[in-house]
Amino acid sequence: MTGARALGEVASLLVTNIGQLVTGDPGLPAPGVVEGAVLAANGERIVYAGRASGLDVATGAETVEIDARGAAVIPGFVDAHTHLVWLGERSEEYALRAGGASYEEIAEKGGGIRSTVAATAAGTVDELVGAAQERARRMLRLGTTTVEVKSGYGQSREAELRQLRAARALGTEPEVPDVVTTYLPLHGIPAGDRAAYLEEVLREGLGEAAPLAGFVDCFCEIGAWTVEECERLLEAARAHGLRAKVHADQRSHSGGSALAARVGAVSADHLDHSTDGDLRGLAGAGVTGVLLPGASMVLGGPPPPGRRLLEAGVTVALATDCNPGTCWCESMPLMVSLGVATAGLTPSEALMAATAGGAAALGLSDRGRLLPGLRCDALVLETPNWLDVGYHLGANPVARVIASGRLVRP
Ligand code: NIG
Ligand code: FE
Repeated sequence: MTGARALGEVASLLVTNIGQLVTGDPGLPAPGVVEGAVLAANGERIVYAGRASGLDVATGAETVEIDARGAAVIPGFVDAHTHLVWLGERSEEYALRAGGASYEEIAEKGGGIRSTVAATAAGTVDELVGAAQERARRMLRLGTTTVEVKSGYGQSREAELRQLRAARALGTEPEVPDVVTTYLPLHGIPAGDRAAYLEEVLREGLGEAAPLAGFVDCFCEIGAWTVEECERLLEAARAHGLRAKVHADQRSHSGGSALAARVGAVSADHLDHSTDGDLRGLAGAGVTGVLLPGASMVLGGPPPPGRRLLEAGVTVALATDCNPGTCWCESMPLMVSLGVATAGLTPSEALMAATAGGAAALGLSDRGRLLPGLRCDALVLETPNWLDVGYHLGANPVARVIASGRLVRP
């Protein structure tokens, strides 16, 4: 699968005896399984991924060798939608919802996002980073090698920036996934004047956030922010180099996915209430659809439109939405299970949505598949069968994690 290479190139990492290597190679039947394979990296990049008999890279005294003993190896998960940086917890709301209270009723009574904003404001930045780090380490153990982290529990200009700084600091900690940050200034509604807050975000927030974030996001929903408000944010963000994401059609047909298509967003997320016309619009605009089947299941409602998205020609991503309100979950393997069980995806489609799809939702072309030239983010599974990722519900199928060509979880 690799071309001819310079004689004498030495691998820094070599994984041998791979029973099934899931490459995601678009030239093979999905998900691109190669049997009897090896995977080699030089530094952070893959230099060979294919049949053992074709290996054309040398090993040396410095090469770290991992014997997979027949286990399957898959790409590291790319969790493209999380709200990882928060303090406090909302278990009481979880119980109230089980008793029939709706997400919206709880929010109207002062719970919901507002209660997490208050709990988050009460802590120091160190406490914030510490709490997020615990979750991020759990994610890495479950195979996530790249995670997107949003602000959104600030609701003031300064508090939002504090969240972004905490997310950036998290990215420098050991044993956490690679962190990509998103500025989410329009999430809950601030206590003061909402129009004045929006103006302040447009005038100053975007400029301050731009060096700290790659993306901008908004919660476009009844009871949250309107299409018009979100559109002003996303349009203004363009000048600051922030690419758009939208919390779209999560709780109602809010118009969020149409907005995402109109502004050429990199992703539209949730989509539980989107119409087939909306999904065709996303396909036409090249917007990746991010499904959060954990949040859909916890809140109840229509099934996530995995099959409908694929039929419309949209690239699909699966993500955890990890947050204290609608889905406290760090597990991408569970999202693969739910993608199959609730969103109409095949196991192969779900696995690719959790890897290459996640990378697409973050505009990253250097990861999500195991191909020469890409970042070597790979998982050695506990089992010889990649299907077990989704099939074994609630389990951790990951034995070892390789991130950027280094073994980070032996
Ligand atoms: O993606 N929908 C908005 N934001 C989160 C929930 C945030 C919260 O309830 O704290 C979500 O589900
Ligand atoms: Fe979210």
